Amino acid sequence: MNLFDFGTVRVVRVWGSSEIGKLPKYLQVVCLASCEIIIMSYYRHHLFFCTNQREGGCRCCNARGATEARTFAKKRSKELGLAGPGGVRVNAAGCLNRCAEGPVAVVYPQGVWYSYSGQEDIEEILQAHIIGGEPVARLRLPDAPTAG
Ligand code: FES
Repeated sequence: MNLFDFGTVRVVRVWGSSEIGKLPKYLQVVCLASCEIIIMSYYRHHLFFCTNQREGGCRCCNARGATEARTFAKKRSKELGLAGPGGVRVNAAGCLNRCAEGPVAVVYPQGVWYSYSGQEDIEEILQAHIIGGEPVARLRLPDAPTAG
């Protein structure tokens, strides 16, 4: 838990919402009245790559380079100092049920879905979204299912 006091603005950063209850009562009252509470999770971002391989020639992410993309993302996140607690965790996932749009990846906690086609796209996701906080518009998939 970190408490930052910038004069008129106090910021409390906690690792998980359960930590708020561990604050002394007076500080809970002060925080609820006048602090911005930032709840941090163990990882700041999760980056999930569907690496599912389907049989019978069905379209799937793994046949479109998902394992290679995930391997590249893990390597680059380490090189960039992003990997680990407080940073990004790159994980493989099973089928995320967006096979026709794949290969797909999703970044949490924002819930931003991407389709990508190579290492350049993965690098852009790491640089723009994970580091810069701005999703990569050109690679985004719709948040909701499209009609039809
Ligand atoms: S195989 Fe990747 S979403 Fe289904």
